[in-house]
Formats: sequence, structure tokens, C-alpha cells
Amino acid sequence: MKLLQKTQLGDVILKNRMAMAAMTRGRTDINGLVGDMTIEYYTQRAGAGLLFTEAIRISEEATGSPFTPGIFTDKQIEAWKKVTTKVHDKDGVIIAQLWHTGRMGHSIDRNGKLPLAPSPLPIRGMQHFTSQGKKDYEMPQEMAIPEIERTIKDFGQAAKNAMAAGFDGVQLHAANGYLPSQFLAESANQRADIYGGSIPNNSRFVLEVMQEIISAVGGEKVGMKISPFNPYGEIKLDNPVDTYMYLIEELNKLDFSYVELMRQSPNSASSENYGAVDEIDLFGRKIRHTVIANSEYDKVSAEAELERGIAKLISFGKLYIANPDLPERYKKNAKLTEPDWSTIYGGGAHGYIDYPFCSE
Ligand code: PHB
Repeated sequence: MKLLQKTQLGDVILKNRMAMAAMTRGRTDINGLVGDMTIEYYTQRAGAGLLFTEAIRISEEATGSPFTPGIFTDKQIEAWKKVTTKVHDKDGVIIAQLWHTGRMGHSIDRNGKLPLAPSPLPIRGMQHFTSQGKKDYEMPQEMAIPEIERTIKDFGQAAKNAMAAGFDGVQLHAANGYLPSQFLAESANQRADIYGGSIPNNSRFVLEVMQEIISAVGGEKVGMKISPFNPYGEIKLDNPVDTYMYLIEELNKLDFSYVELMRQSPNSASSENYGAVDEIDLFGRKIRHTVIANSEYDKVSAEAELERGIAKLISFGKLYIANPDLPERYKKNAKLTEPDWSTIYGGGAHGYIDYPFCSE
């Protein structure tokens, strides 16, 4: 089985081609510190070829939701060090996903400050989970150029902090409607300056952040995640194919390690006219970096995806919630455990670190 074969990513050897995708689990303390439960959670899953952490806030300003981790204070770096040490003790490889939520946040959990965004365009069709329950989104504050420049620097600093915390690499979260994907989309970006108004301008922020991260820690340690057709967070592009083709062409000029490419679920009608488009084929073939294919794969479809030869790794999200030893289960053809959806976000050990191993 290709899924269980060794491979290499950047400067690290991976024991198989199965990655755990980033998943927000909402179990830090109020200061964004990960604790013993989170050490255990990632250590249990160290049999994956590669672990992506949950999304990690690059700064206080990047905050969208409560009980999500940060990597901008010394205490946060020290807390993550305990996770990376234990994962490495188990021969695991772990990459920090770097996150700025942009307009996908609420002042309730931002010390009273409004979310920042490319343009003052609020999300209207959904509500935000806050520490005080679900709330309507507020009008975000348009980022001025100096704020954009500072945010780009914050990404670079967070990448350095991740290295100091012992991570094997970093991943720019440019998917799922958060700040980088907001810049790419006309539904969130109506700027008239160099950061909006054309495909090259809409792509500028993502490209500058990638350059900053690469110069901070070296391209071998760097990758990113994109989700071209994902409408989550009211993301709508006038020309998604042209925009992502341009972005990929420009990314191809940069030296870094991998792109995790999230497709829409083959069963999803949410991507309007794109439900039938095979994004791994369309975009993945254009990407010169290692492609990690993501979303809704199972053992059979993941193996078929690797056989097709575009992606070198597959990342699994949902399956990893309840199956900490997923590669072992695939190897042994063992039954999979179903997750309890009520314990995904927030809470304690239950539904987080108490799922059984197949050997139990
Ligand atoms: C979430 O908190 O629901 C969330 C976070 C990061 C993602 C997607 C969803 O990429």
C-alpha cells in the first residue's frame, strides 16, 4: 500500500504518506496555552507520517475564537515545546499551522477590538462561535497598509517562534476563509490599493507572507494550505480558477516545500458550479512543490489518489479525531471508530484523548 510507504518532505523523512490535517479542537486555556491534554493528543497520533497542528494564532490581533492556541508569547512557545518534544520522542513529525482569522472573529474574544479584514465587508450568512455563545458577525475594520505590513512581519516572527518551539516546519493557513483567503476573494476584498482590485493585487498578501516566512526560517521548513473552491466564511471569487492559477504560477517561483490542496468533498454541492471539478487534477498538476491532497479521503480513495501520482501525501482530518492510530488500522484492516461530534470543539479529555487504539 502506497499510503504506508516512507517518503521525504523538505528535509525530513516521513514514516508513511498519511498526514493528520489541522483541526481546531478548542482546548487551550484562556491565554492560548496548550497543556498536558494537548501533549497527549498529538503524541497519541505520532504514528502519522506528518502531523499538522490545529490552527495557531500568530499574534493577539490574529485571534478569532476563544481557547485556540497562540505562538507569540514566551509561555506559548514553552508550552508547544513540550508537545514537539514528546512527539519527537515517538519519532513523529509535527508542523505548526500559522493562523490569522481576519474577519472571522468577534470583539468579545478580542479584548473588545473589532476584527481586521481586507475591506469592511462583514459575514452575514452565518454566526460566530464566541465565548458568550453564537453572535452575528460585526463590521470588520479595514486594514491600513502599515497594519498589513506588520501582519506580514508577524507571520515571519511566528514562524521563527515555531522553530524555537521545536516544530519540524510551518504551514501558512491560506484556506477556509481566514485572512489570506479573504485577500484572494472579492467577497472580502474590495480594496483599491496594491492589495486589491486585480488578480495580482489580490494575490499579493499571500505571496508576501510566504516570502516573509521563507526568509524567516528557510523554504525547506515552509508550506501552505489552500482551498480554492471552499465558500466557508462567505468566500466568493469572481474568477477562482484564474486567481488560483495565477497564485500557483507565482508560488512556483518561490522555493518552499509543499502545498496542501483542499478539495471540496466530492459529495458537496456547496461549491456552486465547481462540485464536479477535480481540483487535485486541475490545480495539483500545476503545482511544482510537493502536493498534499486533503479532504474527505478514505483508505480506498486515498490510495487511488496516490496511485494517480499528483499528490505525494494525503491528509486526513475527521478520521483522525476518533482513530489516533489510523495508519496502524489501515495496515491491519481494523475497524474504524466513529467520532462523537458533540465533543469536537472545547471541553476536556473526553472525546479528545480517550479514543481507543485498535490494539486495545
Ligand atoms: C474552526 O474553528 O471552525 C475552523 C478553524 C480552522 C479551519 C477551519 C475551521 O481551517
